[in-house]
Amino acid sequence: MNFSLIRRDQARPTQSLCLLGASGSVGGTTIRYLRRVPDIRLESVSVHSSLEKLQQLLHEFQPPLACISHEDAFDYGIEGLMADFPSVRFFRGADGLVEMVRESQADTVLTAVVGACGIRATVAGIESGKKIALANKETLVTAGPAIQAHSAFASNSTSTACIVPVDSEHNSLFQLLEGQNLSHVHRIVLTASGGPFRDWTGEQIQRARREEVLNHPTWTMGPKITVDSAGMINKGLELIEARFLFSCEADQLDVRIHRNSIVHSMIQLRDGSFHLSCSHPDMIFPVAHTLHYPDSVPEPHREMSFPESWPALSFEMVDERFPGYALCRSAMAMGGTAPAILNAANEVAVDAFLKDRISFSQIPETIDGALQSTEIHQTTDLEELISADEKTRSDLMQKLGALSARE
Ligand SMILES: NC(=O)c1ccc[n+]([C@@H]2O[C@H](COP(=O)([O-])OP(=O)(O)OC[C@H]3O[C@@H](n4cnc5c(N)ncnc54)[C@H](OP(=O)(O)O)[C@@H]3O)[C@@H](O)[C@H]2O)c1
Repeated sequence: MNFSLIRRDQARPTQSLCLLGASGSVGGTTIRYLRRVPDIRLESVSVHSSLEKLQQLLHEFQPPLACISHEDAFDYGIEGLMADFPSVRFFRGADGLVEMVRESQADTVLTAVVGACGIRATVAGIESGKKIALANKETLVTAGPAIQAHSAFASNSTSTACIVPVDSEHNSLFQLLEGQNLSHVHRIVLTASGGPFRDWTGEQIQRARREEVLNHPTWTMGPKITVDSAGMINKGLELIEARFLFSCEADQLDVRIHRNSIVHSMIQLRDGSFHLSCSHPDMIFPVAHTLHYPDSVPEPHREMSFPESWPALSFEMVDERFPGYALCRSAMAMGGTAPAILNAANEVAVDAFLKDRISFSQIPETIDGALQSTEIHQTTDLEELISADEKTRSDLMQKLGALSARE
C-alpha cells in the first residue's frame, strides 16, 4: 500500500480551479462551496450540453476559459455565448476539454464529469503538473494501470502532479490512512448505503422499474451513479478505484452496507483495531477537504451534535442479490483491460436502461456477456486500455441497438 498517486508532498491548497462537469451534482456542490470561499478563483469550467447553466456560471464567476464538450450543443449555443461573453475563450467537444485543461493556468482540476470521457482530460491535468481533485471514478477504473505507471508518479519524478480523491469513501479513507504506518494496515472497508433495494428480494430487484432505481435513500446524485448504486455496481467500481489510488491488494478491500451513510470508510490495523471516518452524508465535506488540502478546511460545514443525533451503527455483508458487485470484484481480480471492459459495458447498459431499452437485470447480464466474450490483456498502456473501452462500447451499442430494433 502506498500514496504514490496522491503524492502528499506535492499537494498545495487550491487557489484557482478548472472545474470539469460544472453542471452536474458534484459540480454543483463545488460551486456551492466556491461561493463560500471567494479566495479560490474559478478559472475554467466545462459543461456537456447544459448551456443555460454555463451562462449562469459565466455571469457569476467570469472565468476566462469555458468548454462545451457536446459538439452539437457548442454549435447551437456558441454565437449567443460569444456575443454575451466576448472575453471568454470557448473550447469545443471532447478534444476541446483536453485542450482547455492543457491551456488552463489553474493549479487544480476537479474532474466531476461522468464516465470514461474524463480519462484524457485527467491525463492532460497530470501532464500539466496540476493537482487532480478526482471525483470521476470511471477514469481510474478504466485507465488505472496506465495512470499508476505514468512517469509523473515515478518516485524520482519532479512533476508537481498529484491526485486527491473526492469520492466520499476514498476521501475519508485517505484521511484515515494519512496518519498511519501503511504497512500496519490489514484491511480497508468501504461502506455503502445499500441503495433503494437493500431490503428487496433478488426477484424484486430484477424487476425494478426506473423510478424505483432512481429513488436513492440517502444521497442525491446524477442519474448514472444513482443507477450504479442501486445495483451495488458503484461500490464495485469504488473498490477498483481504491485499489489503484492506494496501491493495495484486492483481498485487502472489503465492503459493508451501512444504512445511515454516516461512516464512509474504516480501516483495520494488523493489531485488530478498527478506525472509522464519519460525517454527515454531504459531498461538501470531501470537496472542501480536497480543495484546501494539505491545509485543513477553515470553517465547519454544519453544526452536528454527537452522539445524540446519530443512529445506532450497523454493518451488513453484500450478498448475491447484487450480481454486478461480484462482477466488479472479478474484473478487479482479472486486472489489465478487464475493469475497462466492465466499465464500458456498464456505461452503455446504464444508458440503455435509462432510455427504457433494457431492464434493470440486463445491466449485470450485459457486463457479464462483455467480460465473457472479450480476451483480457494485461497492460499499462493508456491507448490499449482506451481501445478496450471503445471496442466494448461500439460492440454493445450495435448489439443493444439491434435488440431494440427487433422489439
Ligand atoms: N454525485 C455524487 O454525489 C458523487 C459522489 C462521488 C463520486 N461521484 C462521481 O463523480 C462523477 C460525476 O457524478 P455526478 O453525480 O456529479 O454526475 P452528473 O450529475 O450526471 O453530472 C455529470 C457532469 O458531466 C457532464 N458530462 C456528461 N456527459 C459528458 C461527456 N460525455 N463529456 C464531458 N462531460 C460530460 C455533465 O454535463 P451536462 O450537465 O451538460 O450534461 C455534468 O456536468 C461520476 O464519476 C461519479 O461517479 C459522484
